[in-house]
Amino acid sequence: MADKVPASVGIIMDGNGRWAKRRLLPRSAGHEAGMKRILGLVEHARARGVKYLTLYALSTENLSRPREELEGLYSLFRKYFAQYAPRLSGSGAAVKVIGDISVLPRDVRQSIADVCSQAPVQAEFTLVFAINYGSRAEIVRAANLAAGRGSLTERDFAQLLYTADVPDPDLIIRTGGELRLSNFLLWQSAYAELYFSKVLFPDFDDRRLDEALKEYSRRNRRFGRV
Ligand code: IPE
Ligand code: IPE
Ligand code: MG
Repeated sequence: MADKVPASVGIIMDGNGRWAKRRLLPRSAGHEAGMKRILGLVEHARARGVKYLTLYALSTENLSRPREELEGLYSLFRKYFAQYAPRLSGSGAAVKVIGDISVLPRDVRQSIADVCSQAPVQAEFTLVFAINYGSRAEIVRAANLAAGRGSLTERDFAQLLYTADVPDPDLIIRTGGELRLSNFLLWQSAYAELYFSKVLFPDFDDRRLDEALKEYSRRNRRFGRV
C-alpha cells in the first residue's frame, strides 16, 4: 500500500544564518541559499501529493532583526514573487500569503497581490507564505473581528484566522535543530504531527523531505480517540 501523505504541511525554515556562518559567509548568503532550496522543495512536495504547503519565512518577532538583514530578506521576497511565484501560479497552483505584509516595500506587496490574484478557482496545490506572521497576533486579530458577533463556534473562529481556507497542518517540520514552534500556527497545529530535523534549512533537500514524509506515514493519529 502507498504511504499515507499529509495533505497539509508546514515548514519552519530555520538555520539559514548558521549555514552561512559555517561557511564564513554573511547571513544574507544563507537566506539566499534558503530561497534556492524553496524552489525545489515546493515542486517535490507537490509531486509527492501534498496539497497545501505553508512556509514560515518571517515571524513577527523577526522584525526586530537588524534593518540590513530585513532589507536583504525583502529583496529575496521581491525576487521570489516577481520571478518564481508567477510560474507556479501558471501551473495550476495557487499562491497565498498570511501575516501582516504592510511592513514590506510597496513593490513587493504589489507583486504579492498580483501573484495571489492569479490563483485558479480550483487549485490543485496551494503554496502559503507566512510573512511577518505570528500566531498570537493572528489570534488577537481574529478575537477583535469576533467582538460583538455573539458566541462563536471553533469553526466560526477559525474562519477569522488568516488561514480560513487552508486546512490545518497534518505535519509541521522544523529544520535547524531547535525544538519549538516560535509562534507558528499555534491554533492550527492542535493535532499536527511534529517533526524536528537538525539539518539546516539550505541543506534540507528532497531526500530529507522524503524522510519526514516517511516518518509521518508511520505515525498513528488518534485525535483523542482510542
Ligand atoms: C531562518 O533562518 C530564516 C528566518 C527566520 C528569516 P535564521 O535566520 O533564523 O537562521 P539561524 O537560526 O540564525 O541559523
Ligand atoms: C523561526 O525561526 C521563524 C522562521 C523560520 C520564520 P527563528 O530563528 O526566528 O526562531 P527562534 O528565534 O530560534 O525561536
Ligand atoms: Mg533561526
